[in-house]
Amino acid sequence: MDVEQFFEHVITVRMNDDLTALDIIDQTLLPTTIKRIDLGTKEEIWDAIKKLRVRGAPAIGVAAAYGIALLASKIEAKDYDSFSAEFTSIKDYLASSRPTAVNLFWALDRMQRVLVNKKGETISQIKKALFHEADRIRAEDVEISRRIGEIGFSILENLKKEGTEIGIMTHCNAGTLATAKYGTATAPMYVALEKGWRGDDMHVYCDETRPLLQGARLTSFELFNSGITTTLQCDNMASILMKSGKIDVIFVGCDRVARNGDAANKIGTSGVAILARYYGIPFYVCAPTSTVDLATPTGDQIPIEMREPDEVTEMWYRERMAPEGVDVFNPAFDVTDHDLITGIITEKGLVHAPYDKAFEQNNVKN
Ligand code: MRU
Repeated sequence: MDVEQFFEHVITVRMNDDLTALDIIDQTLLPTTIKRIDLGTKEEIWDAIKKLRVRGAPAIGVAAAYGIALLASKIEAKDYDSFSAEFTSIKDYLASSRPTAVNLFWALDRMQRVLVNKKGETISQIKKALFHEADRIRAEDVEISRRIGEIGFSILENLKKEGTEIGIMTHCNAGTLATAKYGTATAPMYVALEKGWRGDDMHVYCDETRPLLQGARLTSFELFNSGITTTLQCDNMASILMKSGKIDVIFVGCDRVARNGDAANKIGTSGVAILARYYGIPFYVCAPTSTVDLATPTGDQIPIEMREPDEVTEMWYRERMAPEGVDVFNPAFDVTDHDLITGIITEKGLVHAPYDKAFEQNNVKN
């Protein structure tokens, strides 16, 4: 299977053919089982986001967009005001699924703008327009992550030395499984393949990402299947790898970037950034502009999701790994200080601190 076929094989979110359900790959079953499931009700969509069956900031945005288009298509109200009231209540419900990735709220707000702009048209026209907007969000995500990949690829090209592989580290999964196609942190690698690099021109070291193992279950699965030289390591092995000189560059994804450039991503990312600074390794955050939240001034205001203790004490083998009743600290994300970030790559370009000015100059609005 080539990379293009692999992307098709694991497509994260799409509508089913008769537009009656969202069709997602259940990421909690990967890498051992590739199973697609249909989500038809608001509870099923909410639950799939909450339980990480669909996850990763851009993919959550796409799922929310299709989700609200689907649920709106089932609203029976015949007049605009009643339709709009039901739409808003569904939107609020879906928005309550996870708090950190701003793409969820961004996508739902964008869908609501369609509703507002289409006031005066028939309910059936509005329903169609909502599906079109979700299609656009999905298609744009492919373009955007390709663009992020192009910019990241130019960084890889600058690092390339004849006859040696480039060592890349990544944390969690910001890959095809987190987006509509290329991923964000993985986009430079996938673009490199498209441009003719061989899989062994790069060597990607994936943090396993405890507690949920997205690095092990998802990132190493997708890179390995794409033919890229891939090594999996436990999170606490990042330091020894960096010290060994094997890592030339680090690319991570992001759930929300504050106006000052502080970036929330999977728990452990800030530790990787601190190590990278110590060992002098460039650390890039890859994020579509839909992940940049100019309304949030600094990382201190980014809500950090706290998740269930059993993710630490029992996942994934359903065998207890810690004493019954022990207190557990389980934040899903942390915030990397902007001054530890070498640069932020969005589809609009690579920007450096001071990030608030750079976002303004790059016309990053949302
Ligand atoms: O809890 P998850 O799996 O949704 O966390 C995902 C991440 O932290 C990703 O790195 C982030 O959403 C960026 S995805 C392009």
